[in-house]
Amino acid sequence: MKEKKILVTSPLLPELDDFIPYLKEIWESKWLTNNGPFHQELEKKLAEYLGVPYLSLFTNGTLPLIAALQAERITGEVITTPYSFVATTHSLWWNGIRPVFVDIDPITCNLDPNKIEAAITSKTTAIMPVHVYGQPCDNEAIQSIADKYGLKVIYDAAHAFGVKVNGESILKEGDMSTLSFHATKVYNTIEGGALVMKDEKTKHRIDYIKNFGFSGETTIVAPGINAKMDEVRAAYGLLNLKQVDTAIAWRKKVADQYRETLRQIEGITFFEDRAGVHHNYAYFPIFVDAEKFGMTRDELYEKMKEKNLFGRRYFYPLISTFSTYKSLPSAAPSNLPIATKKSDEVICLPMSMGLPEGDVEHVLNAIKNRR
Ligand SMILES: Cc1ncc(COP(=O)(O)O)c(C=O)c1O
Repeated sequence: MKEKKILVTSPLLPELDDFIPYLKEIWESKWLTNNGPFHQELEKKLAEYLGVPYLSLFTNGTLPLIAALQAERITGEVITTPYSFVATTHSLWWNGIRPVFVDIDPITCNLDPNKIEAAITSKTTAIMPVHVYGQPCDNEAIQSIADKYGLKVIYDAAHAFGVKVNGESILKEGDMSTLSFHATKVYNTIEGGALVMKDEKTKHRIDYIKNFGFSGETTIVAPGINAKMDEVRAAYGLLNLKQVDTAIAWRKKVADQYRETLRQIEGITFFEDRAGVHHNYAYFPIFVDAEKFGMTRDELYEKMKEKNLFGRRYFYPLISTFSTYKSLPSAAPSNLPIATKKSDEVICLPMSMGLPEGDVEHVLNAIKNRR
């Protein structure tokens, strides 16, 4: 008999019975979108939960990236990482900005601050780092380079929901940070996202941009877009917020179980918790050193699939290898040796709220008994 399927993730869903009263309220009020009461409540509750001053909800995690670049009037070239989901770089392309790829740090897998300065030109206007897998970037180093050269910093924090360093949200770093609430994320609103900013004026500007540029009934202040979140998903988001702490605690338990066994396996590396960091365990990536492990990443990935265990090679291929970007000088693999290596070694193992101990054991056995 074929073993049961274990998928890389499973969405955090509120109880259907809890959702129905919210839907009834929406049906009765007929207020479906455009800054409705659930939208307003979710913005307030999320800002409180995350410990950030201002936040604007979006319909996904890609549009806040595009909107942040618009709001900061970023042009020319932006320094970014190739080791991310493709939306990071696409947001630059959609703004007519040339991405300049810089290699990553081998420990954190985030943009390597030591390599940023060499990539700065007279056209550079901003840095767009990603807190990949929710691992905090070296903000101090990045910000000091940005200050030195007068650059903006926009963090793609799609993976960093709830991550704190020394008790402070990392979403407060840089000029703005974006979040994704896609179904696969630690916290989801099915599709959804947010932009975190430091002041009320920027929040107003972003609120206009995500609603076609309307600042009043007849006034358009910017060439905005439609990126609003609707009431149904805002209500769903309010319910999921109540269980996100439980979900993160469950994920930590899964991560601990993985780590206990994997520490004994030669050729597999993974992230340990970092001192002073409140992690969210958004993903559980492992890196396979083919020589030491005696099998390549792809061989292990296929072996796992044969056993109905579905990891994900996240982030493979590198963004810099896609046809849109590969002719850029900074996309040359020789410029990105660490990112290329990590991308060839990574598999994200199944990780979700409710993933049973037995399933984690099953994944671990497949790695241990790989032959
Ligand atoms: C790093 C990163 N940036 C941006 C996005 C885009 O978010 P969304 O799918 O909500 O548009 C994602 C989504 O997976 C992501 O992982």
